[in-house]
Amino acid sequence: IPIKKDLSKRRLNVPEYFAKNVDRILNFEGRDDDTYVVTQPKCGTTWMLETAWLVLNDFDFEKGSTTILHDRAPYLEFNTNDEHFESKMNTLQILKDLKSPRLIKSHLPASVLPTDLWKKKSKVIYVARNVKDAFVSAYHFWTGVGLISISIEEYAELFLNDRSIFHPFWEHSLEFYEMRNEPNIYFTSYERMSRDLKTVIKDLCVFLGKPIPDESILDEALKHLSFESMKHSLAGKLFQESLKRNSEFLTKNRNQEKFEFLRKGKVGSFKNELSEDIIRRFDEWEDKKLKEAGVTREELY
Ligand code: A3P
Repeated sequence: IPIKKDLSKRRLNVPEYFAKNVDRILNFEGRDDDTYVVTQPKCGTTWMLETAWLVLNDFDFEKGSTTILHDRAPYLEFNTNDEHFESKMNTLQILKDLKSPRLIKSHLPASVLPTDLWKKKSKVIYVARNVKDAFVSAYHFWTGVGLISISIEEYAELFLNDRSIFHPFWEHSLEFYEMRNEPNIYFTSYERMSRDLKTVIKDLCVFLGKPIPDESILDEALKHLSFESMKHSLAGKLFQESLKRNSEFLTKNRNQEKFEFLRKGKVGSFKNELSEDIIRRFDEWEDKKLKEAGVTREELY
């Protein structure tokens, strides 16, 4: 299991705010009823967090529409409680103070998630996304929040060489894919959520030990979780604002009018943005990695 892997042999690209806290994260005190949502950035984290939060909280649409998701599902490694940062956000303390059952967001790969997660067999919901959409979404996000200021072609060079944030890219999802049949792991994808969110919600009810609600509640959940509703709800607006604030203190970039967190919300939007050459290079990378792992695209997404 991941905890036994030799970390010294692995290269992982993480932001400084995580690197400074690695021991505190590995030693993060878990609870028996913790649930994690783990993803690579831009693979549907927020969408899944909102979905899982509803399931865990008896479909409390009122609270889900009026309380910021960051507060309902804190971001484990986004701990900036350090003299290095202008703003002090002690997510580890926030999580300590949070009532059970906790929902925890993380982008960390299996090998550096808290040791307690594996000891206590905490539930983990993993969301994968096709690499080209994840890449395009990441480009717009990191440029939008001012962390990078390069062309999409330059970013593709970094990405294809596994040098973007939380990379290596494939190992992240393939390690969880390998564990998909463990009782504490639920593996899904952005594409599956887009194809049939109702089934994903029902699966989550079973996975999280909750009753499957009536059709009317499921229909209301689909409305609540739709792109438009999440984009325009009060919680969505607050979320967008808080992301702006967080990125501002990380980058000191105060000029983010362009930034839109809920951007397209579609499968395949990469087609309008990437050249044929870049698409071919991503496809070749994907073919190679999936072949090595003995996994097909259909199985993964
Ligand atoms: P796009 O940039 O392709 O639009 P994350 O939460 O991991 O950062 O992922 C963000 C991506 O998920 C963005 O993709 C965003 O638009 C999409 N997303 C967020 N909420 C969604 C929803 N309710 N329905 C569909 N897509 C959603």
